[in-house]
Amino acid sequence: MPKDTLTITDNRTGTTYEVPVANGTIKAMDLRQIKAGADDFGLMTYDPAFMNTASCHSAITYIDGDRGILRYRGYPIEQLAEKSSFVETAYLIVHGELPTQPQLKEWSAQIAAHYMVHENIKKFVDGFHYDAHPMGMLVSTVAALSTFYQDSKNIFDAASRQHQAYRLLGKMPTLAAYAYRHSRGLPYVYPDPALSYVGNFISMLGQRAGACEPFIPNPVLERALDLLFILHADHEQNCSTNAMRAVGSSHADPFCAVAAATAALYGPLHGGANEEVLKMLRDIGSTDHIPDYIKRVKSGELRLMGFGHRVYKNYDPRAKIIRAAAHSVLEVTGSSPLLDIALELERIALADDYFIRHKLYPNVDFYSGIIYQAMGFPVAMFPVLFAIARTAGWIAQWQEMLLDKEQKIARPRQVYVGHAERAYVPIEKRSGA
Ligand code: CMC
Repeated sequence: MPKDTLTITDNRTGTTYEVPVANGTIKAMDLRQIKAGADDFGLMTYDPAFMNTASCHSAITYIDGDRGILRYRGYPIEQLAEKSSFVETAYLIVHGELPTQPQLKEWSAQIAAHYMVHENIKKFVDGFHYDAHPMGMLVSTVAALSTFYQDSKNIFDAASRQHQAYRLLGKMPTLAAYAYRHSRGLPYVYPDPALSYVGNFISMLGQRAGACEPFIPNPVLERALDLLFILHADHEQNCSTNAMRAVGSSHADPFCAVAAATAALYGPLHGGANEEVLKMLRDIGSTDHIPDYIKRVKSGELRLMGFGHRVYKNYDPRAKIIRAAAHSVLEVTGSSPLLDIALELERIALADDYFIRHKLYPNVDFYSGIIYQAMGFPVAMFPVLFAIARTAGWIAQWQEMLLDKEQKIARPRQVYVGHAERAYVPIEKRSGA
């Protein structure tokens, strides 16, 4: 009769242990009983970068990287992309179920009611240098919100958490728009709760100073941005979500935790990758140069940005949706030579043995930058757009972590490989070697 256990024999001692297997995992703490001697601390696993370690149970997002499947709360990303809106998807991710009509109305109204930020936030933004990166401004201003909303420290109060969710979802676009307007030397535009979530964001970015007429965003671009927000809303335990959970596990307030998550997203291997994709496409310059570029990637000199993923070893389902959306956006904005380079690059890479062997496919960032650029966003704003959308996932993951009885403050172990104890050497006796 098969058993859901793992039998381990420690060849150092000859002792055999049986540990339970659940959901395809063993508990790392079950290994602690395995000791080579009475003084032994017990066996640990060594897993830099969490390559094979689940850090939590989660009911939010399901990814099957080999088959290219992504679902939020069980719903396939393709169906949400086609039928849902970002605000509805955010509700689904945070609350676990699709909202009813009244629930969606209340959720949207509450988020819109929290679009406005305190006037002092403008002073923070004003303080930044004219060429400050908007991600740096976003990290700082979202952290600053923590000082305005000290009730957010009430993290075990469900009503307070809900309130902070409204605030975060409502204010992230405003902070992002202020950062954008500051970098262009433009006056800030106040949010308009009468507009849709994305429509309001576009209005805060694009409204002419002092304009009296109502701002009407282009519906194709509004829908495309909403779609991109849906696709970026959550992605289980990625680097920034891990940061959100790790910082949240110390019971920091959610504004500080979102600041940490946003900082994690800033890096070029995570949210900054679509910025790198555009730089790469520009460097390539023309489809004739692609074979040479691929050669350099294969020799290890460069990485093909927008390709490869820790989890997806198949076409990223989000990339497929974005690739299709790129065409409808470019019909409105005019064609982009970068799209032609991207399509040809993808065609050549997917037929190349190196990429096949390494299971490298386009990821979400490969085409998103082209759309953002066609919409007129400067590249520095790309990760900011990602952060607005991912705030939904961060909130849901943070809340799930707080309510999970098995979670504690995140604190990995290490394998110490430094010096054994040694005596302090006075400075005049040091060789400097
Ligand atoms: N171009 C060329 N080779 C690559 C690439 C790439 N983009 N990505 C991975 N490889 C190779 C890598 O050289 C290694 O080869 P070998 O085994 O021969 O040494 C192998 O594939 C495994 O690479 P890895 O770095 O161990 O894989 P990882 O899971 O640690 O990295 C990744 C995942 C996304 C950081 C990486 O694929 C990468 O740097 N991609 C480019 C940056 C990018 O597009 N990032 C966006 C990720 S999706 C959005 C997000 O999560 O924020």
